[in-house]
Amino acid sequence: MGKETILLCGANGQLGTVLSQVLVDKYGKENVIISDIRAPEDSNLRFELLDILNKSALEEIIKKNSVTQVYNLAAILSASGESKPMLSWEVNVKGYLNILEACRINDVSKIFYPSSIAVFGSDAQKQFVPQHGPLNPETVYGIGKLAGEQWSNYYHMKHGMDIRSIRYPGVIGYESMPGGGTTDYAVEIFHEAIEKQHYSCFLKKDTQLPMIYMRDCINATLQIMDAPKEKIKVRTSYNLAGMSFSPEMIAAEIKKHIPAFKMEYNPDFRQQIADSWVDSIDDHFAQQDWAWKPAFDLQAMVTDMIKNLSEIKMSDLKKNKVETLKTETNV
Ligand code: NAD
Ligand code: SER
Repeated sequence: MGKETILLCGANGQLGTVLSQVLVDKYGKENVIISDIRAPEDSNLRFELLDILNKSALEEIIKKNSVTQVYNLAAILSASGESKPMLSWEVNVKGYLNILEACRINDVSKIFYPSSIAVFGSDAQKQFVPQHGPLNPETVYGIGKLAGEQWSNYYHMKHGMDIRSIRYPGVIGYESMPGGGTTDYAVEIFHEAIEKQHYSCFLKKDTQLPMIYMRDCINATLQIMDAPKEKIKVRTSYNLAGMSFSPEMIAAEIKKHIPAFKMEYNPDFRQQIADSWVDSIDDHFAQQDWAWKPAFDLQAMVTDMIKNLSEIKMSDLKKNKVETLKTETNV
């Protein structure tokens, strides 16, 4: 492997926070530039303030640093996108086109584009949706993600660019908070269960959706990016499965660890978004082409989430107590 210089766009979100650290561990701190429109609260990584809508700034960063790989995580997620449809289109499609152009001009050798289960609409097969079925998304986010998939394929066919993409399910992790999606409940539930033993869910109890644990999501990303070029046969975006469950299924699993946990259901506008998505994914192309296999099912994910999040919350509590004590005693 020659020297790689990686640029991550939208690196301060739920996935970027975790992926940037993993890429730093793999490629070295000096070789990973993390960027976003907001600066990280606390980071010693190499950071650049960068709006992907600023095409010239994007081109300059890529050129100046001889970037070889770009990961585009910048996006407006599904629920936020419904209240800001024009911004969603600008960032998710025009911003991505700026990245593709900047990469084309500067001969960037590999690009990662995360798509989503949001590319499916109500006419898709609900159970084990196939790779090549109808794609008629009903959210502005889904429409944008599908456009991004098609632009990826176009740049690959027309310019020979090596763009790799996964249709991520809803991502669940203890390391970071989600940012305006429909699957966010599956992260929020853990924080509320540990702190309050109670959660009010914004989806109905039987709404099943495809989900994935953060560790599997990151592994899939590294795996597809590391796969030999000839193994990447799908140049729009690969279906990817982790697990599938409904709010009542995850609540029942959490109750095994926190018996006092209670869940109530107050569906809001996000119910309609979730209803237009599929229940589960057929990902055999990803399995076949680059040996994808998730490690976490619902049970393993819940156990790992509760263990890690409880430890984090306990150490935060201790830290806060020390800070309060310091203030009270004027130390
Ligand atoms: P997030 O909302 O947590 O983070 C997105 C980041 O993009 C934020 O830090 C935000 O500040 C930044 N951003 C927004 N506009 C920008 C702009 N104009 N220029 C630069 N940065 C900008 O999202 P995430 O959950 O980390 O998702 C990362 C990617 O994965 C997105 O493309 C998303 O669509 C996709 N995805 C996520 C999930 C999920 O469950 N988290 C599922 C499917 C797909
Ligand atoms: N988790 C994402 C969302 O709900 C799916 O892309 O928006």
